[in-house]
Amino acid sequence: MLRTQSTGPGRFADFDLSRVPSPCFVIDEVRLRQNLEILSSVAQAADAKVLLALKAFAMWSLAPLINEHLSGTCASGLWEARLARKRFAGELSTYAPAFKPSEFAEIAELSDHIVFNSVAQTERFAGEAKAAGADFALRINPEHSEAEIPLYDPCAVGSRLGQPISQLEELPDGMSGLHLHNLCEQGLAPLSRTVDAVLPFLEAHKGKYDWLNLGGGHLVTRDDYDRGGLIALLESLSHRLGVQTYIEPGTAIGFDSAILVGEVLDVVENDGAVGITDISPVCHMPDVIEAPYRPDMLSEAGEIDVRLGGASCLSGDIIGSYKFEAVPKSGQRIAFLDQAHYTMVKTTTFNGAQLPSLAIWNSQTDALRIVKNFDYDDFEGRLS
Ligand SMILES: Cc1ncc(COP(=O)(O)O)c(C=O)c1O
Repeated sequence: MLRTQSTGPGRFADFDLSRVPSPCFVIDEVRLRQNLEILSSVAQAADAKVLLALKAFAMWSLAPLINEHLSGTCASGLWEARLARKRFAGELSTYAPAFKPSEFAEIAELSDHIVFNSVAQTERFAGEAKAAGADFALRINPEHSEAEIPLYDPCAVGSRLGQPISQLEELPDGMSGLHLHNLCEQGLAPLSRTVDAVLPFLEAHKGKYDWLNLGGGHLVTRDDYDRGGLIALLESLSHRLGVQTYIEPGTAIGFDSAILVGEVLDVVENDGAVGITDISPVCHMPDVIEAPYRPDMLSEAGEIDVRLGGASCLSGDIIGSYKFEAVPKSGQRIAFLDQAHYTMVKTTTFNGAQLPSLAIWNSQTDALRIVKNFDYDDFEGRLS
């Protein structure tokens, strides 16, 4: 089981959960700004660029704040690229494990950088990318694993992600960048080990690329992240290899900035108390089941164990077991911590589940805006 990286409720300890509809993602724009300030100060100190990975967090109503601090975004394909251009600012780098020929012309038109996953994809599409004015890069697979679980390990045996460096004698002609990504919510040490593993390759091909993108998975905004070490590493890479460095985190941008508020609908008894809630992990926090992991609950206290789950038909739609002072009553509000990343972007309406509303809270002024409510039409509109 993956450990949650959350460092606690922060200002949400003072948030009155009854102020929002249920379920609802509530993001603290003050905390988001702090995260962005940390990332932009690292970028400035290291002369590096930071792009927001839209796959992790794409709440575009906060794009003006994000645009102030980051160099741009990275997209995983056509629709994220369109969103990037429509709602966000700055550079756009688009990577996909494989591009669809029918979509590539528009992707190249929208993007500043195209990252290909293989030499074969490069040979197929590089000409089109250049003609549209985008530069291109190759994602290499460093064949060096650091992820704690195979589900999140792009360097696992048999991976489809990136051209394995052991297969690469030459780099494709005309390329501008190299890209690698092998971390997941990690600190500096795994990145340093990865760089050590791949440095002979990078040095052997020095001069054939102008920029180096170290992907995402860097939890730079967690208090214990060694930011000085990251700055030193990025600076040394840029001097040694003569490149512009990039990172493209997602999690670090939204880290600890949002909660998911829900409510207990009923409590049944089956080998202990079981609470049924309007938060369904399968619909609203899929990583709880996929990783799996147990999200921290806001203000957890007491001696009574209650297993909490969603109102869907899936037996495994379980959030986890939590402590309460008293068995919760129906209507009681609950909230889970650190729910900005890989949640809103992944929600589904399985079982006709209500999609959580989206709210922006300013923990300094206490101003609250409900920026999105979903209704029945959103459910029906996805089907035909
Ligand atoms: C290529 C690439 N870049 C960036 C990211 C963002 O990673 P994170 O949200 O862990 O920072 C991912 C996540 O899977 C990724 O696959």
